[in-house]
Amino acid sequence: TVAEPTPIPSTDLIAPPVMPKLESQYRLPADFLWGLAGAAFQNEGAVDADGRGPSVWDTLGHLVDGFITDGTTGDIADNHYYLYKQDAQRLKAIGIKTYSLSVSWTRIFPFGNGTVNEAGLNHYIDEVNYLISLGIEPVVTLFHFDLPQTLQDWYYGFLGEQIVDDYANYARTVFEALAPLGVKTWITMNEPELACSNLYPRLTEETPAELFARPNLTTNEIIYKCGHNTLLAHAKAVDILRKEIEPVYGPAKVSYKGAWFYSEPLTNSTDDIRASQRQNNLAINWFGHPVWKGDYSDLHKEILGDILPKFSKEEIALVKSSVDFYAHDFYNGHYYTAPDEGFDACVANVSDANWPSCAVSTNIAPGGWPTGPAGGTSHNFNTPQLFRDALRFINATYAPNEIIITEFGFPVYHESQMELGQARYDLDRTIYFQDYLREILGAYNEDKIPIKGAIAWGTMDNLEWNSGLEVKFGLQYVNYTTQERYYKQSLHYLTQFFDHYIQ
Ligand code: NOJ
Repeated sequence: TVAEPTPIPSTDLIAPPVMPKLESQYRLPADFLWGLAGAAFQNEGAVDADGRGPSVWDTLGHLVDGFITDGTTGDIADNHYYLYKQDAQRLKAIGIKTYSLSVSWTRIFPFGNGTVNEAGLNHYIDEVNYLISLGIEPVVTLFHFDLPQTLQDWYYGFLGEQIVDDYANYARTVFEALAPLGVKTWITMNEPELACSNLYPRLTEETPAELFARPNLTTNEIIYKCGHNTLLAHAKAVDILRKEIEPVYGPAKVSYKGAWFYSEPLTNSTDDIRASQRQNNLAINWFGHPVWKGDYSDLHKEILGDILPKFSKEEIALVKSSVDFYAHDFYNGHYYTAPDEGFDACVANVSDANWPSCAVSTNIAPGGWPTGPAGGTSHNFNTPQLFRDALRFINATYAPNEIIITEFGFPVYHESQMELGQARYDLDRTIYFQDYLREILGAYNEDKIPIKGAIAWGTMDNLEWNSGLEVKFGLQYVNYTTQERYYKQSLHYLTQFFDHYIQ
């Protein structure tokens, strides 16, 4: 059962960091959406509670050796399912304005479609009501990687067209339950570019065939088919929100959360500049061009040919303008250098080794993690200038009326093996937020970029997918023996910053 909250011990409050002097005349708007994010599979635990069904990540954690490197499963995680009241009280006590959470599809439909599991739905109704009663604004993500295992078994999940209707049906159920409570900001899909280009091929290529059936598709076909069905499912959910939900419960805003790596040319050579421009255009436009402009970009069509699925006229009408703002997850940028071989045929997001890559990343290990001494933190990860450039690039590409940074954050390897006293004084992470928040302030005040929100990942240490508990992003420390949480210094910094700069 859900635990009742207890008082937060005063020993949990540590000396806040000293605010550096920033441009004092700069401000952020009063409605700036800021806070912390988490996701169901990564923090809830309680995988068997109240009729929840299995997601692909339960299978990966339990049955695919080494897929989660340290062998962690999501069974307990942060036990947030039962501790959400205490967790919400902790956010309130430190002054957090918004909490971005995700709903677990298999709590609502244990087998992906069929009959609604009321117990699972009621859990989120209770949690959202509780957050709102404390004055914390919920941002709700419908899908954060935890695909129902049954849908993967039945039709390869996002590779099957049936996903569009099943997802839309799930989305409608959640909209109808949570919109009446006052949820106004919705995220349809978490980082679909990464889900489709990384997780999807790996799901079938790096798992035993008896657990994950093999679709008869090449890697590139998997990636772009997954992207296509994701775009259609997203668009259909947005259509339901606009036609059925908003007229009854009032205006809301919606987007998917984009994730692609911004690349900066390493040198001023024409090749480096061209290579990184091409990479950035391909990266932003895969999902961005359809939703902002109505179809895949010409460059995508030209390079991918038949691999890229086509939208019908009706689908274009649905997909075009299916976002109300630009939601972007930005952790760090890369410096790129042109590959020796030609890159005119290159396309971003292709994991097929035979396909030319657009550029070679110079400072990041394959998979996007920073290189750095084992056990240490990475100094490559803090790239504030590239963050600012990425904001300018997004603004210049689509001129969205709002940009919200739906995730940003800083990984520390083996932070959980540190003493509490050391882990909570997370200086490198604090410096990262200091640097990035300064760029947000500058982007809004100097560049006049309409950045209207910034949500830090994550509310607390949690299960970092393939890396399990070995990599920590939390702004609160979690003791995994006692499930106690402790504020980290970076969180104090974040709240002080917004207290100071929001009018
Ligand atoms: C983005 C993902 O949405 C989240 O689940 C993950 O933990 C963070 N990035 C950090 O990698």
